[in-house]
Amino acid sequence: MGRTNVIDGSKLAAALRQRVGEIAAQLHRETGIMPGLATVLVGEDPASQVYIRSKGRACTASGIAAFDIRFPLDVAERRLVAEVERLNRDGRIDGILVQLPLPAQIDAQRIISVIDPAKDVDGFHPFNIGRLWSGLPTMVPCTPQGCLRLLRTVHDELSGADAVILGRSNIVGKPLAALLVAANCTVTMVHSRTKDIPDICRRADILIAAAGRPRMVGAGWIKPDASVIDVGINPVVGPDGRNRVVGDVDYEPVAAIAGAITPVPGGVGPMTIACLLLNTLLAACRRRGLPDPLL
Ligand code: GUN
Repeated sequence: MGRTNVIDGSKLAAALRQRVGEIAAQLHRETGIMPGLATVLVGEDPASQVYIRSKGRACTASGIAAFDIRFPLDVAERRLVAEVERLNRDGRIDGILVQLPLPAQIDAQRIISVIDPAKDVDGFHPFNIGRLWSGLPTMVPCTPQGCLRLLRTVHDELSGADAVILGRSNIVGKPLAALLVAANCTVTMVHSRTKDIPDICRRADILIAAAGRPRMVGAGWIKPDASVIDVGINPVVGPDGRNRVVGDVDYEPVAAIAGAITPVPGGVGPMTIACLLLNTLLAACRRRGLPDPLL
């Protein structure tokens, strides 16, 4: 076992954002086009507000116009549908992101299916999910895309690797499975009804923790030298009584065994935002029949 490689998501994300900014600036110079991203937030969930604010700032810093749309928690579904339809028609908007989760009176799948697939920068529309699983060009969901980009910094070749994904959400687990299968990994999905989760995780060359349970993954779950990607963002109260954020991985003991690991914060989180900016730039080009920018 060598020294653990701590994968610096903040650094990789900064480089990607810089590149998106350069290409957006060139696009603007040459065509007058400025990519635009609309974020739609329902209610006042503090974590969602933090995400939306950082998305807005990141857009502005990369030369992408940010449209911040908010609704009260009790908004009617038909009002939200009408807003998404308006954004579909608005020529200034290239990407539409409806922040999830949505309150119980709203059918999230209905809202997602109303988004124009060409503006679906989350890649959550059934049309885009089908394209992802079929290996066709599409919008690759931001967090799974970020995980793959982080993995590629430590794996020249993913082909044949045993990958285990902890969690089967539509946002992370399922689209990540599609990406890893496309990269020729052998993929196992583990979830709340799986028998002997630690035993399956111990077989993983690549372990992705996206279960949303603080420090769930212990050192006993890790194959020596495995790559561990921690998608968790769990608010907890620390021993000093202060609020902090921890991942789904018990970092210190796991880092002692893993070959590579992403920290929380500073791992997957910043990559998600960088990939959202990239998807918005891609959507702006594709909607106008321009070739995909090289990144
Ligand atoms: N909530 C948590 N992650 C995401 C995401 O990637 N996209 C959207 N729309 N909502 C989220």
